[in-house]
Amino acid sequence: MTSPHALLPSAEAIQADLSTRIIGKKLFMHAEVDSTNDVAAALAKSGTPDGTVVVAERQTRGHGRLGRRWVSPPGVNLYFSIVIRRDYPLHLLTWLPLLAALGVARSVEKITGLAARLKWPNDVICRRGDRTRKVAGILAESIGMASSTERAIVVGIGLNANATAEAFLPDLQSIASSLLMETGRPVDRVHLLVSILSEIETLYDELRSRPALTQAGYYAACDTIGKEVRVELLGNQHVEGVAEAVGPEGALRVRVADGALVDIFAGDVVHLR
Ligand code: BTN
Repeated sequence: MTSPHALLPSAEAIQADLSTRIIGKKLFMHAEVDSTNDVAAALAKSGTPDGTVVVAERQTRGHGRLGRRWVSPPGVNLYFSIVIRRDYPLHLLTWLPLLAALGVARSVEKITGLAARLKWPNDVICRRGDRTRKVAGILAESIGMASSTERAIVVGIGLNANATAEAFLPDLQSIASSLLMETGRPVDRVHLLVSILSEIETLYDELRSRPALTQAGYYAACDTIGKEVRVELLGNQHVEGVAEAVGPEGALRVRVADGALVDIFAGDVVHLR
């Protein structure tokens, strides 16, 4: 185990621990970038291979879902993006961020013993008693949708590994946490990164060969299904009801008061009960 306080090592040192076939075969390690998603998008546009990974110790302009900021201090967390450019049927592309979250949750469980769960679509949450906190988030962005050969998806992952409470903006302190804060123990970030890349490779391969099985894995890990929820949509709209399922394209199916089933493709979920 490398010291939890050590900076991330070189790309070669990370790759030496990696046993994936495709993801991370090309891996760039940066001390500082604006956003690993932006660096990965530029690489995708210039034809970088499927599975290219961009990791940064620090981001100066990390972005989150729904136009939010992702605060990215150095030395404590994981910020990385994966370029995916293999040919999936269109209706499966929306599963990539959901399954990245599942890969993160599985690695977190294996390495820390925490019971990591998912909040639709792709927040990784940890429960302690009756309170839950978000420890990781995923931002997927499409690059050049013109044809399947040009198409790429950048899957960006931010995981709060060894951050302490002060690292979070005040308005996040009641909803976000880190693995260190949840377990009381620092985690080896390289071990975690290598494990996540491997879990994601397995899930992305399985999505092509046995999508129903992969989707069932997501279902089993998703805390949102069966819950009463409020979903904040863009433009100050919201939907309330019972989250009954996740549809074949990854949408959240909510049964609303008049009995109708509404498919939601993007939004922020609050678990009510
Ligand atoms: C969310 O809002 O939950 C998604 C957060 C995604 C953050 C990660 S950090 C690595 C990658 N680069 C970015 O700018 N964003 C993603």
